[in-house]
Amino acid sequence: MAKDDKKEPDFVFPVSKNPEDAVYFYKDVDAALQPQSREMLLKYTGVPSDQLISHIKEAQSRAFKVAPYSSVGSMTWLNPFIVLHFAYSKALEKVKNGGSILDCACMIAQDLRQLAFDGAPTDKMYGFDFEPEFFNIGYDFFQDRATFRGSFLEVDATKDFSETELRDLSGKVDVIWCAKFIHLYDWDDQIEMASKLVRLLKPQPGSLFLGSQNGFPGGRSMSLKGSGMKVSKSNMGFLNDVDHLKEIWEEVGKRTGLDFDVEVTLLDLRTIGWHKDSGSDYHKTIGYNLQYLITMK
Ligand SMILES: C[S@@+](CC[C@H](N)C(=O)[O-])C[C@H]1O[C@@H](n2cnc3c(N)ncnc32)[C@H](O)[C@@H]1O
Repeated sequence: MAKDDKKEPDFVFPVSKNPEDAVYFYKDVDAALQPQSREMLLKYTGVPSDQLISHIKEAQSRAFKVAPYSSVGSMTWLNPFIVLHFAYSKALEKVKNGGSILDCACMIAQDLRQLAFDGAPTDKMYGFDFEPEFFNIGYDFFQDRATFRGSFLEVDATKDFSETELRDLSGKVDVIWCAKFIHLYDWDDQIEMASKLVRLLKPQPGSLFLGSQNGFPGGRSMSLKGSGMKVSKSNMGFLNDVDHLKEIWEEVGKRTGLDFDVEVTLLDLRTIGWHKDSGSDYHKTIGYNLQYLITMK
């Protein structure tokens, strides 16, 4: 069943390329920056504390010129969502013990830097995105071009992976981290994208797929027309509730023949102070973090 086959979406993304009138180009960095992210950034980057806000604003403006996405303007990359994930410690342990990790549609790859900050080696870290300039912005923002040993791959995930650099990772990855990405696709494409990505995992017990994306109680379809992202032909994304996510992964299991456990939870970001809600339709829509863990059996 396609959950988004209605003609009208529940929500239309208010798209703008102009920072002055984009509702999602946030100007108050202090309000967006969580205390633990601030501490991590100061220690990891070595940027003096009195220059941190201008350092962040510079990265925000530079990235918004490259891609005026809502996630770029609202600086969701400022706070590594991986620390919120209920399976973060499991993933960290695996990577600390020599496991590889792939950050899907990584943008500036803040979550890989968080793992590095928490003691994981970076040599088996991979990230892909279809906008390679984000990788340079990431190196400059995190000031780690000389020390970060992971690899960034320019990949359009809508393509067959055998036509992309991901072909070399097929069946070889220990941990997949996939954040704020799959919800950008419509129901059928979410099943397709999840099926393609999960095949990159080592097909053995204990391989982990950590998902973290926008969700919504009861589900919500959204039009992404004009967002600039290469998404579904329908231009529709879908914000899942817990049951939708389970349904999608049941289909992924059938399609791939893989056997896995699925754990999922929907976190209201307002309850932990990670989302300031003005009451607008936009803020109402983006305040939920759907987290899930797929563990290969
Ligand atoms: C909402 S951002 C999330 C970025 C990052 N994962 C995070 O959690 O901050 C979505 C990312 O998906 C990337 N993207 C969109 N369509 C893509 C595609 N077809 N292939 C690869 N990356 C894509 C965008 O460039 C952007 O970096």
